[in-house]
Formats: sequence, structure tokens, C-alpha cells
Amino acid sequence: WFSDVGMAPRDPILGVTEKFLADTSPDKINLGVGAYRDDSGKPVVLDCVREAERRIAGKDFMEYLPIGGLRDFVTESVKLAYGDACPDLSNVAAVQSLSGTGSCRLMAEFQRRFMPHSTVYIPVPTWSNHHSIWRDAGVPQSTYRYYKPETKGLDFEGLMEDVKAAPSGSLFLLHACAHNPTGVDPTPEQWAAISKLMAERGHFPFFDMAYQGFASGDCDKDSGAIRTFLRDGHRLGVSQSYAKNMGMYGQRIGAFSIVCDSKDEAARVESQMKLVARPMYSNPPLHGALMVKTILRDPQLKAQWFAEVRGMAERIISMRALLRRNLEQLGSQHSWKHITDQIGMFAYSGMTPEMVDTLAAKHSIYMTRNGRISMAGVNTKNVARLASAMHEVTK
Ligand code: LMR
Repeated sequence: WFSDVGMAPRDPILGVTEKFLADTSPDKINLGVGAYRDDSGKPVVLDCVREAERRIAGKDFMEYLPIGGLRDFVTESVKLAYGDACPDLSNVAAVQSLSGTGSCRLMAEFQRRFMPHSTVYIPVPTWSNHHSIWRDAGVPQSTYRYYKPETKGLDFEGLMEDVKAAPSGSLFLLHACAHNPTGVDPTPEQWAAISKLMAERGHFPFFDMAYQGFASGDCDKDSGAIRTFLRDGHRLGVSQSYAKNMGMYGQRIGAFSIVCDSKDEAARVESQMKLVARPMYSNPPLHGALMVKTILRDPQLKAQWFAEVRGMAERIISMRALLRRNLEQLGSQHSWKHITDQIGMFAYSGMTPEMVDTLAAKHSIYMTRNGRISMAGVNTKNVARLASAMHEVTK
């Protein structure tokens, strides 16, 4: 039956981890997947998460959750994303999701069913999985300009032209903050202009917020774009993930929400979200939802979490400065200013796929072939080796 099945290509991001694991060098460095590490290169379990886990330990939590997940968790998540920009939360349809990918997949399927003939507009570049998610949902895709290689910054004019030119009623996939892979976000003024134009053109904004807290270290500030759009009266969708900001990668915990016109509309939309979820995975896992709810519901634990997110964001910012300084001290002819200008977990280095291949083959340093460096994997012990390898391959 399966003799004709071809070998699938490696995933552009998770495939990097596979190659890294197969390398036997003791000095190997994995800067592929966006997963936070401490200064010793070790994965981190946040103290607030450990405490939440301690509090729920031994409780009865092996039952099924409802299709839409743990209600209190969903409510707290929606509040975290929308703040006071959404005065009436009963207008929000929301379900627990399998983290960012799961939220996007639900959105894509919902779009196919209830926004017929609409196209999803995806930024260039974007997280590689976005294309696959909407492709598998059978939604027509197009792209919009986002990053300008010449300036290593935002192509604001191109973006605005593309928003203007897209057929009214298109779905625009936006990264709420800490754009993956570029680390380039619009300024608050640019967001305001994008929001205004999208309202004029009648587009539906969908925010993928995988890094709330990682851009500025402040969760409220990082959902500023969503709140601007809400204050401008948009109906919009949001994907939230606790993989990065709570370090709960393997728990697959997130939320998917859509702001509707009324309570009645929200109830209908939410019922359809559940209809999408049920045949896909029945209902979401409970453990992560209980932990996140425990943190968000306890003011002290929540404050502790905010401080811990800020700590992660700050360590990454200091590594950006250190990597740039090391490259400059080595006498690199290139400008590495963009490493410190960009924000979030990634540095979009500008290195070519060939340079990335050489880094892996000669230096056992692994990253995605688009030259994206997961800054979360850089530390005081490996930064000098990384800088000298980057200097060598970019000479
Ligand atoms: C990444 O971009 O590295 C992360 O979002 C992890 C993933 O699932 O690709």
C-alpha cells in the first residue's frame, strides 16, 4: 500500500533539532528552534510554574475537559490579551487550544467554513508553519510585504500598498509582537496606520501572539497592537500561546478567540469553534490549563510570572549586545546593528543558506537556513565561539 510513499522533507525548524541531535561534537550549539535556555544552555522551568504545579499536585484532574477547554483558563487568557481594550468580554468567542499552532489551525478551518472565498494574507517572511497550516485547511493564500532586506527593517510602504490592494474582506495574519523570524515590529504609530487602513478596506485582522512578554518584557505593552485595533472598533481574532512566555512548550497550551458584534453572535461563533475542534482532537489537555489558570488567578504568582518573563527577555537583550560587540571586536566589515535593533527571541542575521550550511558543517552551529538565530540559545559561554564562526563565514 505504501510503496509509493516518498520521504517527507525535514521540517525547516524542528528538522534543525534533529540534525543537532545527530551531531556528536561536544561544542555543538543549537540556535534553531525558539526555545528559551538559561546562561548554561539549559531549558528553564519557571518558578511560578513549579509553584502552580505543586498546588495542583494530587488533585483530581484526569477527567475530560469540555471541548472548549477549561473556562476559567480561557477567561483569564482573553483578559491577558485584550486588557481593558475590550470592555465587554461576553462578546468574545474563545476556546482553549493546542498552543499557537492549534489556534492558527482552528482559525484557518473556521475561515474556510465561515469566510468563504476569503484569502489569507501572510507576511514575507513568516514562521514556516503558517503556510502549511492554512494550506492544509484548504484556504487560498497570498502574501504581503513585510521585511526589507536592504534596510533590515519593516517595509512599511510595501505593507500598506498590499493591504490596500487586497480584496476587501481578506484575512490578514499579523504577528502581534516579536515577529518571527525577523524580530522587526511596526512602531505604535505604524500599527495605528495599519489598523485604520484595514478598517477602511474591511479586512479581518488575525493576530498570532506567540511571544507576549518577549518583545518588551511587558505583557500589556506586547499586546498593544491588538488593543489599538480593538479601540478602532475592529472585529478580530487572536492566537495565544504559553509555550514561550511560561516556558510550557510541551504542554501545548494556548487560547483562540474571536471578538464578535454581540453576545449572541459570540455564542454562535464559539459553538462552531467547538464543532471544528471536536473531530480534530476531541478536547484539549488539562494539566497545562490548570497551571496557567493557577498563575493568572493568583495576583502574587502572576506578578512573579511577569518578573520571570521580563528576566528572560532581558537576558536575550543582553546576549544581542554581547554578540554584536564580539563581532565588532573581531573586526567584521559588516554592520551588525540589526542584531540589537531587532526584538524578541530571534535575530534575523542576513546570513545566506550557504553560510548557515557552513556553520553547521564546520562549526557544529545549527540554525534555520533563512539565517534566523534563536537568541535564546546564546549565552556567555558560547557567544565568543558563535561570533568567531559567524565572522569567518561572512568574510
Ligand atoms: C519556532 O519558530 O522556532 C517556534 O515557534 C517553534 C516551532 O514550533 O516552530
